[in-house]
Amino acid sequence: MSAAQRRSVILGTGSELPNKIITNEDLERLVETSDEWITVRTGIKQRRVLEEGKGNADMAYHAALRALEDADLEAKDLDAIVMGTVTADYPFPSSACVLEDMLGARKAFSFDVNAACSGFLNALAVSDSFIRSGLINNALVVGSDALSRLLNWEDRTTCILFGDAAGAVVLGASENGDKGILSTRLRTDGSHVKTLYVPAGGSRNPTNPETVQNNEHTITMNGKEVFKTAVRSMEEISRQALKDAGVTIDQVSLVIPHQANRRIIEALAERLHVPMEKVMINLDKYGNTSAASVPVALDEARRTGRIKAGDVVLLNAFGAGFAWGAAVGRF
Ligand code: COA
Repeated sequence: MSAAQRRSVILGTGSELPNKIITNEDLERLVETSDEWITVRTGIKQRRVLEEGKGNADMAYHAALRALEDADLEAKDLDAIVMGTVTADYPFPSSACVLEDMLGARKAFSFDVNAACSGFLNALAVSDSFIRSGLINNALVVGSDALSRLLNWEDRTTCILFGDAAGAVVLGASENGDKGILSTRLRTDGSHVKTLYVPAGGSRNPTNPETVQNNEHTITMNGKEVFKTAVRSMEEISRQALKDAGVTIDQVSLVIPHQANRRIIEALAERLHVPMEKVMINLDKYGNTSAASVPVALDEARRTGRIKAGDVVLLNAFGAGFAWGAAVGRF
């Protein structure tokens, strides 16, 4: 295959949702909030939480097994594992390494990508580039996060929004020019680091009794600022990715946006002139699952028959950093 003809195609998808469900009514007992407020402002009704004693890679493992089965590929034949996550099992090494061991994917090189809610898009873009360059022939691309581990369950402005999940995609090289990832676009704006972040636990502000006491190991967010910038940024990058792919928005069968807030998604759809019937939404069931949100929604869309052969799909995401991205693919 010459580098110019190569493209990566999605061979399989999988996802994993922890069993434990926390409903809005459960949250009413923890903080001063209501099911009505959460539903109207976000669209979220419930979220999943990873059980104690388990780590990020435990979720990623099950998502990966389903994606590999769907792709009819064995883990030992994987060339690479790239995982988008901000809640790795350990500060180091990467969760991708933990996952590689669990899967027995001995041939693969593995690493994590830290781009928060955009982590899966970044992992997808990197893996797609590796495949198109000829460096590898396939990759397991994962988005997996357990943000419940970073929540202050007394902060009603954040604890209502997030949930835990993992999603995975198997990419393979193909010479069929029509199908596959047609374009990827990534952006960041580091001037917004403190708009959405975890203040302590890194090298700048290492863990000590005071940081724990002050709850500095949990998510701190200016929600309004995130909301405003998310809509504008995802619109712009989606348009760029569509242009790169040479397709118009009318040719897109399904938009799979980051599942942060129903109002963000509706505003984005309006700006892109896409009817809501063409927009995948499952945040009512899972909340914002960070890097897992797009691959989980993609897997659900495929398994429920919302994506058919030949369909053009637009993925987009936005999150802490700020970091955002978009991808266009044909199935
Ligand atoms: N329950 C009840 N009331 C709440 C609440 C909750 N869980 N959280 C905040 N409020 C209150 C506020 O204190 C405020 O009260 P006040 O008017 O008396 O001051 C009021 O509700 C309105 O708060 P505001 O922050 O203006 O609400 P909002 O419409 O901006 O919605 C978010 C808040 C967080 C839902 C919204 O800003 C958002 O979704 N932002 C994006 C966040 C996001 O997606 N982050 C992840 C990106 S990857």
